[in-house]
Amino acid sequence: MSLIDHIAAAPDLAALDALRVAALGKSGEITAALKSLGPMTPEERSVEGPKIHARREEVTAAITARKNALEAAILDARLATEKLDLSLPARETPRGSVHPVSQVMDELTEIFADMGFAVAEGPEIEDDWHNFTALNIPETHPARAMHDTFYVTPAAGEDAAPMVLRTHTSPVQIRTMMAGKPPIRIIAPGRVYRSDSDATHTPMFHQIEGLVIDKGINMGHLKWTLLTFLKAFFEREDVAIRMFASYFPFTEPSADVQVGWKFENGRRVIGGSENWMEVLGAGMVHPRVIANCGLDPDEWQGFAFGTGVDRLAMLKYGMSDLRAFFDGDLRWMKHYGFSALTVPTLSGGIGA
Ligand code: DAH
Repeated sequence: MSLIDHIAAAPDLAALDALRVAALGKSGEITAALKSLGPMTPEERSVEGPKIHARREEVTAAITARKNALEAAILDARLATEKLDLSLPARETPRGSVHPVSQVMDELTEIFADMGFAVAEGPEIEDDWHNFTALNIPETHPARAMHDTFYVTPAAGEDAAPMVLRTHTSPVQIRTMMAGKPPIRIIAPGRVYRSDSDATHTPMFHQIEGLVIDKGINMGHLKWTLLTFLKAFFEREDVAIRMFASYFPFTEPSADVQVGWKFENGRRVIGGSENWMEVLGAGMVHPRVIANCGLDPDEWQGFAFGTGVDRLAMLKYGMSDLRAFFDGDLRWMKHYGFSALTVPTLSGGIGA
């Protein structure tokens, strides 16, 4: 059998490589032939040279062809054995479901994304300045006591500033304004912590913050944004809101936002204007807060709002005890949880 036949019949890559070395390697047959050109006379070389080079080309081409064929065969074999039948149904139905808090956070993100808001985040272990001072809550301010703050004390001997578990999502306002130039349109959903526990309070709960900073922003923009959001969230056109003067250190003026509700088939539902309940805190960002973030309050204005995500979930999906949210009881999840396979979209019905 000629060398070319041997190459074409090489059973695997290792055998093929052995043939390559025997022909083209350092002490290979063709390498030796090439070396023999050196001592030849120019006439001999012009006869022998092209022959040897042609031989080398022929052998190299045969090796490449066999190598490609062997590799293709290996790939085919792998594809045949590693095939995954994606149409195979799962043997067990999945037991998990989407938690109402996750569902509501996804709904909020979807609604605000549609209005041009980005999602911002901040740390849950926060420093005092971001959680309080920058938000115009100085050390002696009574609001600090009202927040029932969890303090994270540094280890003995450690020379670190005391930290807090953030008591609200408002510090994300500060972080966002410090991080980039306006215009700013963000929401910041996330976990917050307060030392408080009863049927409507848990030490960890969820809030969502909203912040808009731009030129010429006024309370009309705030009211439109909140009404548009609440209509989309409760999936009703008859949602009504009213705003009352209130006080938050980081907004001026500040407002409590109430939403109308009524009984429908014996159930409390959001809509109409028969009864009112408070759902949000809001206001125009205090000029001092804007200045604390290094922006000129004469140039930039904005509004902010904040509310409890768990509370929104309770109102929309009818849960009565907040503590059950965090018990991890599968029976509760089965009752209130959401399919893992449906994602809230405005077109599909966000709470579908
Ligand atoms: N941070 C407030 C709280 O935890 C909620 C809040 C009220 C946020 C008014 C705001 C706002 O941005 O404007 O109670």
